[in-house]
Amino acid sequence: MDQVNGSVVTEFFIFLGLSNSQELQIFLVVFFFVFYVGIVFGNLLIVITVASDSHLHSPMYFLLANLSLIDLCLSSVTAPKMIADFFSKCKVISFKGCLAQIFLLHFFGGSELVILIAMAFDRYVAICKPLRYTTVMRGNVCAGFVAAAWGTGFLHSVSQLAFAVNLPFCGPNEVDSFYCDLPRVIKLACTDTYRLDIMVVANSGVLTVCSFFLLIISYTVILVTIQHLPSERSSKALSTLTAHITVVLLFFGPCIFIYAWPFPIKSLDKFLAVFYSVVTPLLNPMIYTLRNKDMKTAMRRLRKWNINSRIKS
Ligand SMILES: *[C@@H]1O[C@H](CO)[C@@H](O)[C@H](O)[C@H]1NC(C)=O
Repeated sequence: MDQVNGSVVTEFFIFLGLSNSQELQIFLVVFFFVFYVGIVFGNLLIVITVASDSHLHSPMYFLLANLSLIDLCLSSVTAPKMIADFFSKCKVISFKGCLAQIFLLHFFGGSELVILIAMAFDRYVAICKPLRYTTVMRGNVCAGFVAAAWGTGFLHSVSQLAFAVNLPFCGPNEVDSFYCDLPRVIKLACTDTYRLDIMVVANSGVLTVCSFFLLIISYTVILVTIQHLPSERSSKALSTLTAHITVVLLFFGPCIFIYAWPFPIKSLDKFLAVFYSVVTPLLNPMIYTLRNKDMKTAMRRLRKWNINSRIKS
C-alpha cells in the first residue's frame, strides 16, 4: 500500500484461498490440477474433432466447439492462478490483474450464456420446425450467433467494469476467495457500495435469471414436442437434450446463486465458484465424448487418420 496525497491506495489484493487447512489445500490443488488438465485436453479435443471432420460441420457442432473454446478460456482465467498460488506463501494479485480477471470472467461468461441460448434455439428449430431447419440455421446465421455471443460478452463485461475501475480502495485488501470477482471486490471499497451492489444484481443477476428462464421455457417446449415424435427419433433427441440441459443447469445454478441470490452464504458461494471454474467446463467434453455417438465416431476417424498418415510418412 502507498501513501498518495494523504490517502492510502491499495495496489494489490490478497486471496485468502478456499481453505486454511493444509490437508484440504493439498487435496484442492490436486483436484484443480487434474480437472484443469482434463478441461484443456477435453475441450481442445472437441474443437479439433469438429474442425477436422466434415460430418460434424453443422450448426449444432459448430456451436458446441465454440462453447468448448469459451469453457477453456473461462477456466483459464482462474484455475492456473489458483494452482500457482498454492506454491507461493502469499497469494497476491495486483490491482490491474484483479480487474483483468473480472473483465475476462464476465466477458467469457457473457459469451457462454449467448452460446447456450443459441444451442437451445438450434435444437428448437431442429426438433420443432424440422422442415425449416436448413433455411433458418444457415451458415451465416450460426456465425451471427457466435459474433453476437462475443459482442454481448464484451458489452456486459465493460458495463460492469466501468463502475469498478474508479472505486476507491484504501484499506482492507483480503479477498475471501481464490479469484477476483465483483461482489467480493466491491465489499472492500471504502465507500458506500449499496448502489454498486444493486448494479451487479441488475446487470449480471437479471441477465442470468432472464436467460435461465428463457432456456428453461425453450427446453420445456422442445421436451413436450418430442413426446409426439416416432420413438427412434425421440430417443436420439432426448439424449442430446439431456446433455444440453445438464450443462445449462450446472452453468446457471452457481451464477444465479452468486449474482442474484439476495442472501449470499459466504462459505457456500466460494465453493460454488469452484463449480463454474473447473467443474462445468469439464462437463461438455465428458458428456459429448462419452455419450454422443456422432462425436465418438468422428474421434475414431480422427485417430485412424492420424495413424494412417503416420504410417505413410
Ligand atoms: C464457431 O462458430 C463459427 C460459426 O459457425 C464457426 O465458423 C467456427 O469454426 C466455430 N469455432 C470453433 C472454434 O469451432
